Order: sequence, then structure tokens, then C-alpha cells
Amino acid sequence: GAPAEVNISKLEPGQKIDVEWRGKPVWVVKRTPEMVANLPKNDPKLVDPQSKSSDQPAYCQNEGRSRKPDIWVAVGVCTHLGCSPTFRPELAPADLGPEWLGGFYCPCHGSKFDLAGRVFSGVPAPTNLVIPPHKFFGDGDSMLL
Ligand code: FES
Repeated sequence: GAPAEVNISKLEPGQKIDVEWRGKPVWVVKRTPEMVANLPKNDPKLVDPQSKSSDQPAYCQNEGRSRKPDIWVAVGVCTHLGCSPTFRPELAPADLGPEWLGGFYCPCHGSKFDLAGRVFSGVPAPTNLVIPPHKFFGDGDSMLL
């Protein structure tokens, strides 16, 4: 299909928007500096912290799984059986525990992902969320999928 153009100029820090790309839900999240700084703290608890066994473009195989530190793009489909994980950006909510630094929770079988889409150990999802190819243009105000 035709590439999807997404205007991200109005995206606020901490906000997520949903777009559709090739029939799939795609998320665009603008992470706050605190969210980005917290990502390495999750590394010891992750299945694939360096994303070696996960699906992303080469330019997103880094700590934030992103082209830029703040803007993060992912296919919003759980890598277990395809449910839609819920955006849970808050710190230490009662149901996810005191060490939760923000991420995504899959209601189907309890898989948990951090704010780079990296899967936590001990849940059914085997790999990190998929990052689709994308690029920015127009001084970063727009994105092309
Ligand atoms: Fe997400 Fe099973 S589909 S945990």
C-alpha cells in the first residue's frame, strides 16, 4: 500500500498516538527525557535487551529502539498471540508493581514490555515488539511509514 504520512508536530511528551500501516496498528510515542533515561534500568529484567533476536530495522537496534531518543514507533501487536497491549506509561502503578517504569501490558496473558517495546522475562511473549521501517522529514515534524 501507499506509505502513511504522520504529523507528529503536536505530539506531547508522554503521549501516544495510533496510526494504521498496512492494516496493522502502529503506535508513535513521544517519550519524556525521564522515560528515555529509565530504559537502561530495565535491561537486567529483559529477555532480549539488545534486541538481537527481535524484529526492527538496523537503525533501531539500540537501547531505545528508535531513530531519535524521544520518538518511538512500533507495531502495536503482542508478539505472543497478537493481542493489543495497553499503554501504561505511569511509574509504579499498584497493579504492575513498584519497579514499573512505564511500558505496555498485554491483557490477554500478561506479557509486559518497556517503553522501547522490550519484553520482560517471565511472560509468554518471546520477543520484543516489532519496529516498522520509518523515517522523519520536515525538520522532524512528520514521519513516513
Ligand atoms: Fe499478549 Fe498473549 S497475546 S500475552
